[in-house]
Amino acid sequence: MEKIVIEGGHRLQGQLPISGAKNSALPLMCAGLLTRGGLTLHNLPHLADIKTLANLLCELGSVINYSEEGWDIGSGQTANIVTDSISSTTAPYEMVRKMRASILVLGPLLAREGEAIVSLPGGCAIGNRPIDLHLKAFEDIGAVVELKDGYVRASGKLTGGIVHFPTVSVGATENILMAACLADGTTVIENAAQEPEISDLAHCLLAMGAKISGIGSSRLEVIGVPELHGAEYTVMPDRIEAGSYAIAAAMTGGELELIGQKLPLVMTGTLGILEQAGIKFTETDHGLITHLDSDNIIGINAVTQPYPGFPTDMQAQLMAMMTLCDGASVITETIFENRFMHVPELCRMGADITVNGATATVRGIKRLLGAPVMATDLRASMSLVLAGLAAEGTTEVNRIYHLDRGYERLVQKLSSCGAKISRQKADGI
Ligand code: UD1
Repeated sequence: MEKIVIEGGHRLQGQLPISGAKNSALPLMCAGLLTRGGLTLHNLPHLADIKTLANLLCELGSVINYSEEGWDIGSGQTANIVTDSISSTTAPYEMVRKMRASILVLGPLLAREGEAIVSLPGGCAIGNRPIDLHLKAFEDIGAVVELKDGYVRASGKLTGGIVHFPTVSVGATENILMAACLADGTTVIENAAQEPEISDLAHCLLAMGAKISGIGSSRLEVIGVPELHGAEYTVMPDRIEAGSYAIAAAMTGGELELIGQKLPLVMTGTLGILEQAGIKFTETDHGLITHLDSDNIIGINAVTQPYPGFPTDMQAQLMAMMTLCDGASVITETIFENRFMHVPELCRMGADITVNGATATVRGIKRLLGAPVMATDLRASMSLVLAGLAAEGTTEVNRIYHLDRGYERLVQKLSSCGAKISRQKADGI
C-alpha cells in the first residue's frame, strides 16, 4: 500500500488542468448499455472508479476499447463502448460493493432488456445511503420491483409515468432518466436533481436520439423512443476537483489557473461560497485564475445543499480551509448523515473544530502542523491533502486508494505547480 507524503508550506503557482468529471463519466458510461450503436466518450479521467465500472459493463456484455488523447497530465482517455447485446442482466455484489454508482446500470438494463438484477449497494462510510428513491421511481414508470437475498430485481415493460421525488437524488434522477428514454410512453420527473452532471448525461442522451426537455431544471420530460443510436460525447470538467484546487491555491497563498472549459458555468454554488471566504476567480480563455484576495481566509457560514447550492462533495475541503480562517466558521451538512470523518484527523493537525449533530464550528488557528493522518472517504482524504499542503512540517496521508478513486494524477498535478508531494510505500497500514 502507498501513502502520500507532503512537505507543507510551499506556494502553488501555475496552470493546473482539470480532468473530466468522475460523477459525469460514470452515468455516461452506463448510458452505453442503452444502445447497440456504440458510445464514444472523450475526456474520461484515469481513475479507479472508471476501471471498476468498465469491468462491470464488460461483465454485462459491453466491449470497450480505449485510446489516449495524449500523455499530458491534462488529457483524458477516449473509450468506445459497444454493447451489441446484453450478455447478463445481473450486477453481482462483488462489483456493486466496490462502487455504489454501479446501481446506475439498473435503469439501462431494465429499459433495454425488461429485466435487471442488481445487488443492493449497502451502506458506505459517509452514511446509510439507501436506494428507495430509485426503486419507487422505477415502479412509477411501470416496473415490478422485488427485493430478495440482497438483490433488487426490476422487471417489466416500461410505460412511462409521473415520478415525483420527495427528496432530491442525483443517482435516482440519472437512473430514471436513462430508463425513461426507452419507455413506451412519456415520463415526467418532478423535483429532479439539477446537478450539471445530470445535464451532461441528458445532452449525451439527446445526441443518442433521446427526446428530453427541461434539461437543467427540476422538471424533466422524456418522450420514450423505440431505440437509441450511437454517439460521440465529451465529459464535462470536474467541478469538485476544480474547487478543491482553488482551495489549495488559497491555503498556500498561491495562484493557479484551472484549465477547463465551462468551469464558471458548472461551479455555481461553489464559487459563491469560496468568494465569500476571500477567494477571487477571474475567467480566462482556458478556465479560471484563482487566488486568495484578502489578507486572511474569511470565516463564513456554509450549508450543503443540492445544486445550485454548496455541494456536499466540497464540504470537507472547505472545512480544511476554514481551519485557518480569521475568526470562526460554521459548516452544516444536510445531505449525508456521517460526513465529518475528516474532523478528528484535521484536529490531529491542530485544527479547532467542534461538531454538534450536523453542524461543525471551526475556530480559525494560525497554523496547522503536519501529522500522519488517514481518511475513510474520497473528499475527506482530499481535505487532509489540502491541510498538509498548508501545514508546517510533513504530513503523511494514508489509505490513498480513496484519492485514486476520484483525483486523477493528484501528485503529478500538484508537483507541477510547486507542491512538495510524493507517493511512497506505506508501512503496514
Ligand atoms: C451523488 C454523487 C456524490 C454526491 C451526491 C450528492 C455520483 C457518482 N455521486 O451520489 O458524489 O455526494 O450525489 O451530491 O454522482 N437517498 C435516499 N434514497 C435514495 C437515494 C438517495 O434516501 O434512493 C439520499 C442519500 O442517502 C443522501 C441524499 O439522498 O442522503 C442524496 O443522495 P444522492 O443525490 O442520491 O447521491 P448519489 O447519487 O448517491
